[in-house]
Amino acid sequence: MHVWGPGEGDQACGEVGAGRMLEPLQLAGFIAGTLAPSGPLAGKRVLLTAGPTRERIDPVRFISNRSSGKMGFAVAAAARELGAEVTMVAGPCSCATPPGVKRIEVESAADMLEAVMKQVDGVDIFIATAAVADYRPANPVESKIKKTSESMDIKMERTVDILATVAARVGAQRPFVVGFAAETDSVEQYARQKLLKKNLDMIAANEVGHDKVFEKDDNALLVLWRDGRRELPHASKVTLARDLVALIAERYAERKSVRLASITA
Ligand code: CTP
Repeated sequence: MHVWGPGEGDQACGEVGAGRMLEPLQLAGFIAGTLAPSGPLAGKRVLLTAGPTRERIDPVRFISNRSSGKMGFAVAAAARELGAEVTMVAGPCSCATPPGVKRIEVESAADMLEAVMKQVDGVDIFIATAAVADYRPANPVESKIKKTSESMDIKMERTVDILATVAARVGAQRPFVVGFAAETDSVEQYARQKLLKKNLDMIAANEVGHDKVFEKDDNALLVLWRDGRRELPHASKVTLARDLVALIAERYAERKSVRLASITA
């Protein structure tokens, strides 16, 4: 027996919190994910990153971002629905793990990289939905920092790019690699640059701003690959995730058949 929910949000009684029925689309996704896997990704292994990361300043403080993890969890559920064996490496977020999905919880960008590298061998498709910190405090300290001075500087250092690390693998070790891009302007131009620079097979770009995307239930995506593009119009993150994973499955199958043709030729 599986119990799903309750969802969080506005209640009929006027209160806000846990107690709602999950959205019908979410329920349908959970049911589909629990039944015997079939579909275009049956037998395929999908590895995802999701949610934000937390970068430690001292034992009680960290630097993070506004990612809710909703999109990543919806993508994991959609991949499972299409039959894949799904492992998700997730930063701290309160989203419920979709049924049939293996969740590995991590905190920092370094933890996420380590978990991904442990899981990536034999993976067919890697999807990086996580909002990984690009910088972390260079010298996190063991004791709580006291307010002894009027101002304070925190030296930051770059984190390792997990997506680019996976995309740099070669031959049979390299999965089909899908990245995400969050841009405030020139969305297509910047996303295409990232696709090429990080050597990705596909990139899903969205426009972000202070009132867009983060913590919201809906979104729109522009998906790019080397010689193509598709706009996935504004929809709930659950619907959008399904459309995106269907497109990933399509492109993945196409790349495989091109590879097979070049081997036999
Ligand atoms: N990513 C990652 N590891 C990092 C940083 C980012 O895997 N250390 C992945 C994210 O999961 C996402 C993509 O890279 O799939 C985002 O690319 P990035 O270049 O970080 O995009 P932005 O953060 O938007 O970059 P910039 O700030 O330079 O625009």
